[in-house]
Amino acid sequence: MAMKDRLIIFDTTLRDGEQSPGASMTLEEKVRIAKALERLKVDVIEAGFPIASPGDFAAVKAVSEAVTDSTVCGLARATNVDIERAGEAVRGANRSRIHTFIATSRIHMEKKLRMSPEEVLAQAVKAVKLARQFTDDVEFSAEDACRSDIDFLCRITEAVIEAGAGTVNLPDTVGYIVPNQIADIVSQIRHRVPNVDRAVLSAHCHNDLGLAVANSLAAVMAGARQVECTINGLGERAGNAALEEIVMAVRTRHDVFDCDTGIETTEILNCSRLVSTITGFPVQPNKAIVGANAFAHESGIHQDGVLKERETYEIMRAQDVGWHSNRMVLGKHSGRNAFRSRLESLGIAFEREEELNEAFARFKDLADKKHDIFDEDLQTIVSEAAVSSGSELYKLVALRVCSETGETPTAKVTLSINDQESTAEAAGSGPVDACFKAVEALVKSGAELLLYSVNAITSGTDSQGEVTVRLERDGRIVNGQGADTDIIIASTKAYLHALNRLLLPSQRQHPQMGELV
Ligand code: KIV
Ligand code: ZN
Repeated sequence: MAMKDRLIIFDTTLRDGEQSPGASMTLEEKVRIAKALERLKVDVIEAGFPIASPGDFAAVKAVSEAVTDSTVCGLARATNVDIERAGEAVRGANRSRIHTFIATSRIHMEKKLRMSPEEVLAQAVKAVKLARQFTDDVEFSAEDACRSDIDFLCRITEAVIEAGAGTVNLPDTVGYIVPNQIADIVSQIRHRVPNVDRAVLSAHCHNDLGLAVANSLAAVMAGARQVECTINGLGERAGNAALEEIVMAVRTRHDVFDCDTGIETTEILNCSRLVSTITGFPVQPNKAIVGANAFAHESGIHQDGVLKERETYEIMRAQDVGWHSNRMVLGKHSGRNAFRSRLESLGIAFEREEELNEAFARFKDLADKKHDIFDEDLQTIVSEAAVSSGSELYKLVALRVCSETGETPTAKVTLSINDQESTAEAAGSGPVDACFKAVEALVKSGAELLLYSVNAITSGTDSQGEVTVRLERDGRIVNGQGADTDIIIASTKAYLHALNRLLLPSQRQHPQMGELV
């Protein structure tokens, strides 16, 4: 049987995914996700935009040092400072890549960059040459490629390959293209650019029209051999193409794709949950591959068919993407070793013994309230431990709510603020509203609540509720998460987590804003 081409999976959850409002992650969280992506065997992890802020630089550096198998990539605009900073950030990686980009569509060149096409081409070539001084693996992206003039796109592609780019990415930055058009762009580049055989063509599609995955797959059918995608389709606006959907489409329909990925698909669900818990972006139940209903056969006819012969209605096996395969249950009587080894099999290891002890104490606490502890609970325990470093300004000390039919709910909340305890009471339209009002009476943050959502982590009424709260203040948006078997406590924790995050400094640049300096 002929060997199929390798389709390179380039994950940008930590960069484009993080550009989603409220999805910002701490350094420790990024390293955890990067390790999970490595277990998933993604080829390239885009770890961030190092020039954006000292925090972003540190995170890309930390991911570079933590990951061995996957290539670690840093994003840079086509400027000397960006490229030098990216080069420095990925220097410690076993395999490093610099991804440099400049816009090529007329509207972006004229209105955003205020540069002529010739200036853009010259700057792209200069950027690629400079990047090659830091690593042999350089990717060039023609931002807004899908709305660019095809003749110019061919010229710039040829020039950056000549300058040393090994990958040329053709982003649909604004999510505008449709499948046959992107296929045509890839195909024209393949046939018109004389040195195209020296580079991998890549697709990077945004989901504004819900077409990101379809467009990426169309590009693959036309000959692209790298796709840029994110876990759960996380990303700015409507998001990026979902990694899990692309990978499973290529695998399930190997009859129509002449390429294979190297992805360890049984790690998909694990990764999806981790990203959702860390960012606070829940996965909708009907989401393909990783949604709670993705493999649930509701209707009687389907169930009957599946019981007689699975393939009557199922095109993939749930366990192939990680469902059910690792649902070992822990409980009240499980010891530290069982706890540790279960965490290890989920890819979670603690550097310090005290961290394990703290997580184990949380586990025992939860096991007192809840009979069976599932993998999802363990991920939440670890996330919660990472969230509460002990040094936060606002901590929950006590909470009492009164909720009765026909009466206005009230809450009494005691917080520790800078190690000083204070208490406030408030009434609200519901117990959660009353709690948030009591917290605000103490904190007076002036933040606006943009989103409040509750999700049951597992099935059953003893499940932990995982709450996400999104707050905005002075144009800055943050997400907070909290989990508890009591959803009022989970909600208050999430609110405090968001408030604590609002206090952290954040002066990061957005990669796609403004003129190049
Ligand atoms: O969408 C886009 O164009 C990007 C580039 C920076 C690659 O994310
Ligand atoms: Zn993008």
